[in-house]
Amino acid sequence: MAVHIKTADEIQKMRVAGRLAGEVLDFIAPHIRPGVTTGQIDRLCHDYQVNHQGTIPAPLNYAPPGYKPFPKSICTSVNHQVCHGVPGERLLKTGDILNIDVTPIKDGYHGDSSRMFYVGTPSIQARRLCEVTYECMWRGIRAVRAGGFLGDIGAAIQQHAEAHGYSVVREFCGHGIGHKFHEEPQVLHYGQAGTGLLLQAGMIFTIEPMINAGRPAIRELADGWTIVTKDHSLSAQWEHTVLVTDQGCEVLTLSAGAPPPVPH
Ligand code: MF3
Ligand code: CO
Ligand code: CO
Repeated sequence: MAVHIKTADEIQKMRVAGRLAGEVLDFIAPHIRPGVTTGQIDRLCHDYQVNHQGTIPAPLNYAPPGYKPFPKSICTSVNHQVCHGVPGERLLKTGDILNIDVTPIKDGYHGDSSRMFYVGTPSIQARRLCEVTYECMWRGIRAVRAGGFLGDIGAAIQQHAEAHGYSVVREFCGHGIGHKFHEEPQVLHYGQAGTGLLLQAGMIFTIEPMINAGRPAIRELADGWTIVTKDHSLSAQWEHTVLVTDQGCEVLTLSAGAPPPVPH
């Protein structure tokens, strides 16, 4: 199946949805502290999106084939949880690391972004994993340009992660996004430069590497959603949505409070 090239009108809508995704993360940042539950974080993000932004949280009741409907409005993945953590009664405690992944829909278009947050003060190992994973995402972003290949992205990410002794999760990947939450192409976070799909201006997809401190293997919890590392090692993830341009790419999910881009 073909990868959709967005029209100028769609690109404009994706810029708006992308910025709004970043702004949900900006909004929630000061609320992340010991004693808060992931369910409270979900509720705050839900209300901000619906009442303040006029956006729809795409995860709520999202049900891809083979999955039961996701019951919450955001994903909260703590410590050895890799992705798709379901918010609930869990109390955050100092030293936890937490990924918050948000996907607001505005005017029919999706913005998808996630960041890592520290609860209180992280261990040196946890901080290093989060920082290296952030660099991995940006190395992937910097590999994007029209005329380049999808494999350039995964190769850049894998090389950086493995150079630090970390491993790349294989089972989940970045994805095309627009009017649909998940569309083609699949953006692998490992691979070989110069292989795969030829990138064209107007493509929009996410780059969202999941990097484990230990082995790459994962398993799914009984809730049918939460993914954890098999060896219980820490895992980190960052996500941006990007537009392919002739010069490189435009990161659509930046916002005033986003951590600074990593330069070339
Ligand atoms: N936001 C996730 C992604 O980056 C997808 C979450 S699906 C959900 O692709 F149902 F778990 F919310
Ligand atoms: Co995504
Ligand atoms: Co996401």
